[in-house]
Amino acid sequence: MNSEDISRAVDNAATALIPRIKERLGNDQPVAAVTMGSGLERLADVILDPLEVPYSELPGWPNPTVPGHAGRVAIGTLGGTPVIGLSGRVHLYEGGNAGRTAFYVRVMGELGVQILFLSNAAGAIREDWQPGELMLLTDHINLTGNSPLIGPVVGAENRFPDMTVAYDADLCDIVRTAAAQQGMTLREGIYAAVHGPAFETPAEIRMLRSLGADAVGMSTVPEVITARALGIRCVAVSCLTNFAAGLVERPLDHIELLETTRLVEKDFQRLVEFSVARFA
Ligand code: HPA
Repeated sequence: MNSEDISRAVDNAATALIPRIKERLGNDQPVAAVTMGSGLERLADVILDPLEVPYSELPGWPNPTVPGHAGRVAIGTLGGTPVIGLSGRVHLYEGGNAGRTAFYVRVMGELGVQILFLSNAAGAIREDWQPGELMLLTDHINLTGNSPLIGPVVGAENRFPDMTVAYDADLCDIVRTAAAQQGMTLREGIYAAVHGPAFETPAEIRMLRSLGADAVGMSTVPEVITARALGIRCVAVSCLTNFAAGLVERPLDHIELLETTRLVEKDFQRLVEFSVARFA
């Protein structure tokens, strides 16, 4: 697709959402988009009276193919703040152009959303952390070998976005404060994004640790790159669903990882709700 085709597709999806946003939020503008990662789609439950729109009803919107990814937009308020919840995302490993992972971020940009709160499931590389803990992303390492920005510059996007502060310092502080007020343990660290879909080998995990990564996952980074190109501020939290490969003897299993997200979803919901309440 050329730049005009992408802009038109983004515009069409935004145009389809605008009347639904108006229907639910009236004249209020959605302040933040909240992306719910693998197994965390029940975050949508804390959105008050959500108006839900399946991705399949939105023109050009890629549909997730992975269990644990519902595939709908939920418009409502979260902690009193007008938000657009995104229940499910597509990953690079689902195939096609990397721009598919960025489509919804471009639509959020078109709608004037200024904050992107991302969640994901990730493997813990640190031996002193525990599955079930939450980690605030302070930075990332993009090891996907890909970028959603490859190709023509779309609209007003920055060709060379600055990534010095990819995760907004003020938003990170809000999440830290929310965790402290809730008495929650919130780890902080660096997320290594890999392409997947195979989990890593123990040797790859040793390599990632030596590179300075604290957690590993297959999402989030394409979206953050796109958001930064659009000037959208980002904050992201991982649910550490497992010890990364080789840290324990057990083989990794996607369904088991989803089960770990169930154990922490209430904590996750509270953290996101209390944080987003302060975004307004
Ligand atoms: N590796 C990559 N992605 C993941 C993991 C992991 O261990 N856990 C959850 N997502």
